[in-house]
Amino acid sequence: MSILEIRNLHAGVEDTEILKGVDLTLRSGEIHALMGPNGSGKSTLGYVIAGHPHYDVYEGDILLDGESILDMEADERTKAGIFLAFQYPVAVPGVSVANFLRTAVSNVRGYTDQENGSQRSGVIGSNLMPMRDFRRELNAKMKEFNVDPSFARRYLNDGFSGGEKKRTEVLQMAMLEPKFAILDESDSGLDIDALRVVSDGINKLATEDRGFLLVTHYQRILNYVTPDYVSIFYGGRIVQTGGPEVAAMLEEKGYGWVESEFEVVEVVEA
Ligand SMILES: Nc1ncnc2c1ncn2[C@@H]1O[C@H](COP(=O)(O)OP(=O)(O)O)[C@@H](O)[C@H]1O
Ligand SMILES: [Mg+2]
Repeated sequence: MSILEIRNLHAGVEDTEILKGVDLTLRSGEIHALMGPNGSGKSTLGYVIAGHPHYDVYEGDILLDGESILDMEADERTKAGIFLAFQYPVAVPGVSVANFLRTAVSNVRGYTDQENGSQRSGVIGSNLMPMRDFRRELNAKMKEFNVDPSFARRYLNDGFSGGEKKRTEVLQMAMLEPKFAILDESDSGLDIDALRVVSDGINKLATEDRGFLLVTHYQRILNYVTPDYVSIFYGGRIVQTGGPEVAAMLEEKGYGWVESEFEVVEVVEA
């Protein structure tokens, strides 16, 4: 059982504070939906947890199983079990999905730590997970998560539809087996079939030893994935937390209600 704690987190870009005191606790086995209007800072929260170098933390802490992760680089956080699926995944022409996943899995499982890998020194790829083992696992997971085998050879996100990008993310999660997964707006722009693939993937991967932070503007995906908690994010902080009824209430009242109900905290320079 793992726990990810965000305590009084203030963060932003240079001198612009975007996150204004976020408190959130996520335990393994939980699905926590974070809903809020555009521009409220939801994606920023994902980036800051994942360790994106562009953002600065001014105050507060992020603890994984009681240890601060603030001094860890993004790749170390991935290795520690934190996974972020970007709202806008970048295309990497020239790098196939299979090669990308093999490198990522090798990093997370420690193969890349060994100077000369598990095999003979000087052999290219010897500090990666052995190809045959990787292939076997990838094929099994593509089958399990309804990802077409042709994906493995395609360049990462290059010319992918919104649905194909999300399928790739589900596959990535299935391979990396993170303790905590943060999915940013995994439902936006998806047709119903793609939404099913993503939500089926989340439901399959939402085991007792894994927690999900589901960041979304829309309530739609929550028709397929039932969250344990729903928090409303507004003006860089959580303004309300409850169960699935909070999502239903937002659907009914709209974000205009949030804006009239809660204040945005202004940062006053000393
Ligand atoms: N890298 C950045 N540089 C400057 N401003 C940023 C950056 N990232 C986000 N912001 C600003 O922070 C606010 C929150 O953005 P974001 O986290 O993307 O919100 P959301 O995901 O809730 O729509 C916005 O006003 C946005 O313009
Ligand atoms: Mg966003």
